[in-house]
Amino acid sequence: MKAIEINNLSVALSGRDILKDISLSMDEGKFLGIVGPNGGGKTTLLRVILGLIKPSSGEVSIFGKPPEDILRTGGIFGYLPQTLKIEPNFPVRVIDVVMMGRYGKVGMLRWPRGKDIEKTVECLSMMGMADLKDVPYGQLSGGQQQRVSIARALAAEPRILILDEPSTGIDVVGQEDFYHLLKGLQKRFNLTVLMASHDIGAITTYVDEIACLNHTFHYHGNPLGALNEGVLTGLYGKNVDVLMHTDMCDKCERLRRE
Ligand SMILES: Nc1ncnc2c1ncn2[C@@H]1O[C@H](COP(=O)(O)OP(=O)(O)OP(=O)(O)O)[C@@H](O)[C@H]1O
Ligand SMILES: [Mg+2]
Repeated sequence: MKAIEINNLSVALSGRDILKDISLSMDEGKFLGIVGPNGGGKTTLLRVILGLIKPSSGEVSIFGKPPEDILRTGGIFGYLPQTLKIEPNFPVRVIDVVMMGRYGKVGMLRWPRGKDIEKTVECLSMMGMADLKDVPYGQLSGGQQQRVSIARALAAEPRILILDEPSTGIDVVGQEDFYHLLKGLQKRFNLTVLMASHDIGAITTYVDEIACLNHTFHYHGNPLGALNEGVLTGLYGKNVDVLMHTDMCDKCERLRRE
């Protein structure tokens, strides 16, 4: 059974066509990167998959079920939204924010148990944030808050991890570590990962498939195929020069074999 199956999806919002004729089929355990210009529809597509936006036409199924059913029962998705709004003066600790990600596992009106606390601390450790677990969330820097948001998405122990521009605000060294971490989680838990990003070069190295989205898919397939001036110029509507790092293809191949 496919993890995600989308057929001829179109979405109109406020009378404007945002997504047109999108089809996508993803096996469990694959890593898809979604790139494209601002306003191209990346966040909208992720929100449709999550069951938060209804399509105007077409079908979406997640492990064979409609997204609304998955949304109701929970337990499949971990989600890092593009912007996670938490009032800076709201008195909530870092660990409490991560615990929000386990809401589906803890259950309504139940207190987190030892396992939930262990899992949240483990996810914070993976993001290098365990030492700050009792600090008020509002006191963290933007990049640190982003790391906590990623820990929150992982705390759900998802089968499908949806990340909307997760590396925003994370420093360069941290980004490389983060992509490695994701690749490791994908392999270890057979996790299906969808990630919207503007970091085309970096994600090309780590993903199995790439989708170039500007209202419709301009390209979908092998990541190296997207690093082609024709594809990127079609996508962004302007001439785009592609500068390849000499070790990039080797790195892609090495990671794919790992
Ligand atoms: N609720 C809404 N009502 C009306 N229009 C919307 C709504 N949400 C998004 N849009 C429009 O849909 C288009 C696609 O937005 P979306 O956020 O999906 O783009 P994106 O590819 O994620 O962009 P970015 O790279 O800036 O994050 C934009 O023109 C946006 O204004
Ligand atoms: Mg977006």
